[in-house]
Amino acid sequence: MIEILFRLYERKVFPYFMNKALGQAEIMDNRRHILQHANGNILEIGIGTGLNLSVYPSSITEITAIDPLLREIPSAPVVVKLYPDAAEQMHFENNTFDTVVSTFTFCSVKDLNITLREISRVLKPNGRLLFLEHGKAEKKFVQKMQDVVNPLYTVFACGCNINRNYQQVLSEAGFKIINYNLYRARIFPKFLAGYLYEGVAINEKFENYL
Ligand SMILES: C[S@@+](CC[C@H](N)C(=O)[O-])C[C@H]1O[C@@H](n2cnc3c(N)ncnc32)[C@H](O)[C@@H]1O
Repeated sequence: MIEILFRLYERKVFPYFMNKALGQAEIMDNRRHILQHANGNILEIGIGTGLNLSVYPSSITEITAIDPLLREIPSAPVVVKLYPDAAEQMHFENNTFDTVVSTFTFCSVKDLNITLREISRVLKPNGRLLFLEHGKAEKKFVQKMQDVVNPLYTVFACGCNINRNYQQVLSEAGFKIINYNLYRARIFPKFLAGYLYEGVAINEKFENYL
């Protein structure tokens, strides 16, 4: 019974609130801003309810997407080829995509290091990773609050973590961040999703391809 209720929460209740929070005008502007860099063959990881679909540049007509929880995607100008893969183990060939997009998904993957290795593998040598994620705050005090709240938060937020530092993890995984911004999302409390990491990253070992 508890399992059924949790599945219902995970599939209906949480996505409803997620959509409300992550679909607000300020966040949609942030999405539009990072997605302007999308081009070529695109993979979006953890597409969720497809909030990005309305803000891809008009030149983008088709994307590939994955999400282990296949949800209903609204009809959009962009055609979506959707697969139930987890980002840690994707079925795509090496060097397939020009752009990989992660918006508010790195917070939810179980193993971020393996995910980044997989992204590196499926990206073409001159490919780009576009990310927009909420993560670890700048201020030490807020960071401490995030660390304390995270274990409980992650249960209610279906595996979402509020205290990951994407600049650090991406660098450690061999990505070079070529365009980066860390800023406050005014609509979220500081100690929850209040700090947004936005950027473009390339695979460091392929730096010379660009
Ligand atoms: C907070 S939602 C964000 C959805 C969407 N990316 C957006 O920007 O609105 C996180 C999404 O990541 C998906 N997810 C969780 N674990 C994943 C994994 N290991 N691989 C790929 N997607 C995952 C969830 O099912 C959910 O749709």
